[in-house]
Amino acid sequence: MNILVTGGLGVNGCWVTRQLLEMGHNPVVFDIRPDFSLVSDIASDINVVQGDVADYAAVLRALKEHRIERICHLAAIYPDAADANPVRGFHLNASVTVQILEAARVMDVDRVVFTSSLGALSPIGEDYLASERKPINEDHHAYPTNSVYGATKAASELMGINYERLYGLKFVALRFAPIYGPGKHAPRHGNINVLWNRIVEHALMGEPMKFDTGGDQPYDMTYSQDVAHSVVLGCLAPRPEHSVFHIGSGRSHTLREFVDGVKAAIPSAPIEVGPGFAEGVGPGGAWIFDTSRAKAELGYEAQYPPKEAVQDWLHWLERLELEIIPSK
Ligand SMILES: NC(=O)c1ccc[n+]([C@@H]2O[C@H](COP(=O)([O-])OP(=O)(O)OC[C@H]3O[C@@H](n4cnc5c(N)ncnc54)[C@H](O)[C@@H]3O)[C@@H](O)[C@H]2O)c1
Repeated sequence: MNILVTGGLGVNGCWVTRQLLEMGHNPVVFDIRPDFSLVSDIASDINVVQGDVADYAAVLRALKEHRIERICHLAAIYPDAADANPVRGFHLNASVTVQILEAARVMDVDRVVFTSSLGALSPIGEDYLASERKPINEDHHAYPTNSVYGATKAASELMGINYERLYGLKFVALRFAPIYGPGKHAPRHGNINVLWNRIVEHALMGEPMKFDTGGDQPYDMTYSQDVAHSVVLGCLAPRPEHSVFHIGSGRSHTLREFVDGVKAAIPSAPIEVGPGFAEGVGPGGAWIFDTSRAKAELGYEAQYPPKEAVQDWLHWLERLELEIIPSK
């Protein structure tokens, strides 16, 4: 199948591109920044259109020239950038999603997968943040008053659902829990969600890292390969009933479990973790996404607990000769 992957060179998109290629599909990457560092080994095997997703004519051209059947739309800017310039943030992350939907409709593409976020949810309350918390399912309120980025994700979801209602264009929105993986570092994403990456970077560089408390703090942390797999499933699974899916690790891991996983993969890692909780440390506080809908309708289940994720990360670090860029 010919599949357009916008943002297909990014932290999540690179694995979407790679997984589609491995499955025998033809991923056509549409990305504004010609940074091939995360796909250097397959660069000659993929079609890449360098362009701006905001350029509607260029998107239409790509859909036509490559006879695109489905779209995975990942290109976006991050929360810091969206808050810094709300007009640009809303345009790139929401209005452009509508342009993608419209282009899909005009060119008879039959499915659009959209990468949403936990940011699309209303602020998460105490029931979910307590240590005996409930998993958050797709019925949770999605009225994000606390970030421009979140508002753009919620608006995009609503427009996708309306395109499906009006035109039958299948729309799949995947709301991701916090993500870690190769290439996700401060120069690329600002200082958002980088705690897990910082831990692995320190381990790789042999630099000491110490948490006085927080070892018992649970988090939903998802490896980028799992995230990418959910996009691939969202794109290829038989037409799912619903449009919105929560994607996470399916369980929580404590900070200590994560560090133990890192140490199992990198035994020399000089990381120390003290006991107890540390509400507010790390991304998203202490809560977990309910992924049962994604399991039932897409066949999604996370495959990478921390140790396996870091082992995979090491493999790609070597294979792609990636530079370790430490975040702050
Ligand atoms: N990483 C996370 O923690 C996380 C969490 C929730 C949701 N998401 C969503 O997942 C998607 C992918 O995120 P990522 O972490 O891979 O981001 P990324 O920044 O690593 O990749 C995004 C890619 O999009 C490209 N891009 C940006 N603007 C573009 C434009 N105007 N035209 C064409 N290409 C453009 C960039 O060059 C980059 O390669 C985004 O929609 C993001 O909002 C990510």
